[in-house]
Amino acid sequence: MRKRLIAGNWKMHGSQNQVHQLIAGIKNGVAQSSAFSEIDILVCPPFIYLPAVQKELADTTILWGAQNLYVGQQGAFTGEIAGSMLADVGCRYVLVGHSERRTIFGESLSIVAEKFKAAIAAGLIPILCVGESEAERERGDTEKVIHTQLQSVFDAAGINAFHQAVIAYEPVWAIGTGMTATPALAEEVHAYIRQLIAKNNVDIAKAIRILYGGSMKADNAASLLSMPNIDGGLIGGASLDANSFLTICAAACKEQSTINEMKVNQR
Ligand code: PGA
Repeated sequence: MRKRLIAGNWKMHGSQNQVHQLIAGIKNGVAQSSAFSEIDILVCPPFIYLPAVQKELADTTILWGAQNLYVGQQGAFTGEIAGSMLADVGCRYVLVGHSERRTIFGESLSIVAEKFKAAIAAGLIPILCVGESEAERERGDTEKVIHTQLQSVFDAAGINAFHQAVIAYEPVWAIGTGMTATPALAEEVHAYIRQLIAKNNVDIAKAIRILYGGSMKADNAASLLSMPNIDGGLIGGASLDANSFLTICAAACKEQSTINEMKVNQR
């Protein structure tokens, strides 16, 4: 059974003070109910705040991760951070191939695949982001784009690497725009992604968590998270406000307990 995962992608936001306030708000909310232990809650702050966040979360079950990594262990790569360095400081999760990395920083399919491999090699859990642009959707190329993005990583890293990975479907046209995919539309793509994985390995397809990202907010999270192939969310804007983020986490908890109850009844 797949444990729901709600991940906050803080992008390049925050200051020491804001990070402290936000973490305090999330910690406080999570401490109010044991239901939050039913799901995984993850925050991905900018690199520079990772040690502070790690320290503040030390006595909690809230997970933390990075937004990016570089391929390779070490070397003359000014300004970059290796997966092994993240692992060295206790980091477990890392975003790979976010559309902002692909478009603004020119990360190609092969760079994304190499980063995914580097994350696995460092023992990290990559959250591999895939998704089509508005023009690609309008052309009817959504499945083709998703297939290409995933296949390049299957080819480079091998399907078994996905035992240790999470996928996030993030339609580029929905990121930061307030234009959320409808639950039905998102579910269609999530089911397609699971089917692509099943063609390579049925067990991984059943177990892998596929998150939705793109303007998921407190008021639309419940309907998205109720879809059978949506196992959580990758939240940008709404993760910067503790109450919004907690409301999304609570929606995931509700969904998780419904699923747990269904499992018990089936026994
Ligand atoms: P958004 O961002 O929730 O602000 O749309 C999601 C993401 O980019 O991961």
